[in-house]
Amino acid sequence: MTDIKISTLSATDLAGIDQWLDTIQSSWRVDLPLFPAPSKPNLMINLMLPTESTRTEYLTAIVDDRVVGVAEVSFPLKDNLHLVEFELDVHPEYRRRGVATALLRRIEELGAADGRRTYMIYAPDRMREDYPEHVAGKALLEKNGYVKGLDEVRRTADLDLVPAAELDAMLARAWEKAEGYELVQWVNHAPDDVVDGIAYLDGRLLQDAPMGTLDMEPMKVDAERIREGERRSDTRGSLRVNTVVRHIESGTVAGWTDIVVHAGVEEHAWQGITIVDPDHRGHRIGTIVKIVNHRFVRDYRPHVKYVHTWNAEENDFMISINEAIGYRVQERWVAYQKKV
Ligand SMILES: CC(C)(COP(=O)(O)OP(=O)(O)OC[C@H]1O[C@@H](n2cnc3c(N)ncnc32)[C@H](O)[C@@H]1OP(=O)(O)O)[C@@H](O)C(=O)NCCC(=O)NCCS
Repeated sequence: MTDIKISTLSATDLAGIDQWLDTIQSSWRVDLPLFPAPSKPNLMINLMLPTESTRTEYLTAIVDDRVVGVAEVSFPLKDNLHLVEFELDVHPEYRRRGVATALLRRIEELGAADGRRTYMIYAPDRMREDYPEHVAGKALLEKNGYVKGLDEVRRTADLDLVPAAELDAMLARAWEKAEGYELVQWVNHAPDDVVDGIAYLDGRLLQDAPMGTLDMEPMKVDAERIREGERRSDTRGSLRVNTVVRHIESGTVAGWTDIVVHAGVEEHAWQGITIVDPDHRGHRIGTIVKIVNHRFVRDYRPHVKYVHTWNAEENDFMISINEAIGYRVQERWVAYQKKV
């Protein structure tokens, strides 16, 4: 039987950090084409700077004196106090030796010690024939009592796929339906007159987006929590570009989207929230904010080529906008959960 030691990665363990990255990069190279592994600057920043709203443990599984399995384990601190969310990867050369099982045990021990009752993790599932088959994650989780809660799909936009003239025409048609609205855009720090509006929309997200049977409660978001997120982005060197559409007469923030670029990865960016207030739907606001924000990110980081997004499989409105502006399916991510 393999001798596996579970430990915690520290910001001062430089060899461990390199081995962590090698494990993830090797794992994703095999399993997840076009999925950018975390950069060294980003991992080091995450290890050095704890956040106020989440406690994160970086667990390592050590075999033959090297890190061969990793788990990033998050404990929300401001809401969802029942929850543990985690990610898990094992180096391809060390699979089927019980490494993931040992990490799972430790994660569930940590959760129990902290009084948590629900464990949640996403496992990949193949949708494209030119991509590898994903059986391991689902098999591991089902063997350990995890059940499916929601199917999400990752799509990636190549920002050069849809010709600019086509996007211009789409945008012009969208604005015809959005008379009485205006754009507000910013990088990292929301203007004072929109911060309450975006906090409201952020808090609504888990109410509005399809959540399947996931045991999650809406996030408690106020202006102070938005500001905390901004401080976090500043100290981590992340760029967060934001576009909102505002109803001119009432000043209401009608729709909002943001994209994040992490330190040390220039070609890839991550779509954050996209939400349109139910009172303002039907004005093509979703289309407007997404096209405009794609362009906005390139104003600041011209090397960004890909933007990655996840949507619940049944989120038809969002998906049809995304497909129109260049997002294409990569793989399904099945949210598994275990309640104890
Ligand atoms: C999923 C993953 C973490 C499993 O790591 P691992 O260390 O090989 O898992 P374990 O050795 O602890 O496997 C435990 C059990 O899971 C099941 N399992 C694991 N891999 C499997 C595979 N390829 N096919 C079928 N069953 C599998 C088996 O029941 C296995 O027990 P057994 O070997 O006695 O038959 C690893 O394959 C991986 O890193 N995959 C890519 C990342 C990923 O999918 N992450 C999602 C997280 S679940």
